[in-house]
Amino acid sequence: MQDGEYSKTAMGTAFMRAYHAAHVHPPIFTDVFARRLLTEEEYQAGEERHLKAFHLFYPDLAAVCPDRAAALAGWMQNAGAPAIVLARARYAEDLLEQAVGEGVKQYVILGAGMDSFAWRRPDLMARLQVFEIDHPATLAHKLGRLRAAGLETPPNLHFLPVDFGRENLAGALRRVAYDPQALTFFSWLGVTYYLPREAIFTTWRAIAGMAPTGSGVVFDYLETGAFIPGKVAPRVAILLEIVSRVGEPMITGFDPAHLAADLARQGLRLQENLSPAAIQARFFQGRDDGYHACEQTDFAWAVVA
Ligand SMILES: C[S@@+](CC[C@H](N)C(=O)[O-])C[C@H]1O[C@@H](n2cnc3c(N)ncnc32)[C@H](O)[C@@H]1O
Repeated sequence: MQDGEYSKTAMGTAFMRAYHAAHVHPPIFTDVFARRLLTEEEYQAGEERHLKAFHLFYPDLAAVCPDRAAALAGWMQNAGAPAIVLARARYAEDLLEQAVGEGVKQYVILGAGMDSFAWRRPDLMARLQVFEIDHPATLAHKLGRLRAAGLETPPNLHFLPVDFGRENLAGALRRVAYDPQALTFFSWLGVTYYLPREAIFTTWRAIAGMAPTGSGVVFDYLETGAFIPGKVAPRVAILLEIVSRVGEPMITGFDPAHLAADLARQGLRLQENLSPAAIQARFFQGRDDGYHACEQTDFAWAVVA
C-alpha cells in the first residue's frame, strides 16, 4: 500500500461483492451491504475500470459483447479476482459458522477492508465478540464510510488499527477487549499476497501464541509458481499487473507442498488446503455462467496446535 493511503484493493473487492450481489444468480457469496460502502462515483468508476481492463486484456471477448452490461459480466466471469474474492469469503464464513457451533466466541477479521460481516450476519454477530483489524489508513476510511451509510457500530464490534508490517498483532490485541482464553476464529483474506514473508510468519506466530488450542485461521495465498515468468497462469499474470498498477503489488506466495511445514514452525497445524481444483469442486461446480476458480490461488485453514 502507498504510505498514508487507504487500500484501493479493499475498495476493489467491495465493488466485486456489490456487483455480484446485484447481478449474479445464484451467488457464490452474498454481500448486500458492500454497495452502501461505496459512493455512487466510486461504483461508476469501478465499472469503468473493469470495462477498460476487459478491453485491454480480453480484446477478443470484449469485441463480441453486445453492450456494457455484457462486457462487465464478461470481465467478472473471466478475471481471476472476483472468483477469489467471492469464494474465499464464502469459505471463511462457512468455517466460521461451523466454529461458532463448536464454541468459538471471538472472530478476528485481519485486513477487514470493507467487510460488512457485522451488519450482514446478525445470526453470528449475536454469539461473538468481533475485532476488525486493518491498516490505519484503510480503517479510518472505512469508519467514514460506515458513518456516511448510517451503519451503527454494534457494541460487540471492536475496531483496531494495525500495520502488520510494523506492529505485532499480539501487542495490538492487548489494547482491546480480546480474551486470550476464548476460542477464536481469525480470517485473513486477501492480505498475505501483499506482505513480506517474515511479516506473515510473525502474524501466524502471534495467532498461535495468543489463542487457545483449537482456535483457527483462514487465509488465501498465491502459489509460488505465480511469481515465476513462464509458469504464471495468464489470468494470474493479469491480476499481478493490475494490483501493481494501483500501487499494491503482490510480493509473496507459498508452495502448497511446504505450507504445512511453514505453519508448523510458527505453531499452527494445517487443517485443510483447498487447491484451485478443490475450490472449483466446492464452490463453482455446476455453474454455467463462466465463473471458475482462479489458478495458482489456494485457501488454507490452520488451527492452533
Ligand atoms: C485486498 S484487500 C482485502 C480486504 C478484505 N479482507 C476482502 O477480502 O475484501 C487487502 C487488505 O489488506 C490490508 N493490508 C494490506 N497491507 C496491510 C498492512 N501492512 N497492515 C494491515 N493491513 C494491511 C488493506 O488495508 C486491505 O484492507
